[in-house]
Amino acid sequence: MKIKTSDFVTSAVVPTQYPEDLLPEIAMVGRSNVGKSSTINTMLGRKKLARVSGTPGKTRTINFFVINKEFYLVDLPGYGYAKVSKSEKASWGKSIETYLSTRKNLQEVMLLVDIRHEPSNDDKMMYDWIRHFGFGTIVIATKSDKIPRGQRQKHFKIIRQKLQMSKEDKIIPISSLKKEGVDVLWDSIADLFTS
Ligand code: GTP
Ligand code: MG
Repeated sequence: MKIKTSDFVTSAVVPTQYPEDLLPEIAMVGRSNVGKSSTINTMLGRKKLARVSGTPGKTRTINFFVINKEFYLVDLPGYGYAKVSKSEKASWGKSIETYLSTRKNLQEVMLLVDIRHEPSNDDKMMYDWIRHFGFGTIVIATKSDKIPRGQRQKHFKIIRQKLQMSKEDKIIPISSLKKEGVDVLWDSIADLFTS
């Protein structure tokens, strides 16, 4: 896919704040700090379009980025960050859940997991939930630069087993540090639009 333009459009907490043009949307979900915002920047070849931080809990609203004026990439707050207060957790949870369960023009939801670790119970729950809604055929394994190539299959197997993925479902390794994997990811996204 050729990226001609990419722009930040808006931040939202409640549905009235979502963009009104109803272009197709592709959302990124996953634990805090897994690399959702970094992956969006890497996909778009932009350094600071989505805000990134070494401290988990950086993205606190639903952020919409429009690509080629044709579709949106949607950056969501992460889950599973212990240091966020209970009330804040509940309000993020509600805002993510409302978005994922009610957004009519949501075309795909991708789960991001860290290539190094077995997915958490929260990841498994999120995966089951997005599958239930007909999404989640692509899982992104982030921070692939942290694992030597020869060991990746072993890590993919652990991820597949924990999430109970079927054989046809893809795991795409991405490194925002090394800028690796984005072409494969874009090809898979292009397939979503044509299939
Ligand atoms: P929240 O917004 O808190 O949910 O986090 P996030 O999932 O958006 O993660 P973010 O993109 O902010 O990245 C978190 C940390 O991981 C930052 O310190 C990034 O620099 C680092 N990081 C992200 N992607 C990669 C990668 O591919 N390789 C390496 N080595 N570090 C990465
Ligand atoms: Mg983020």
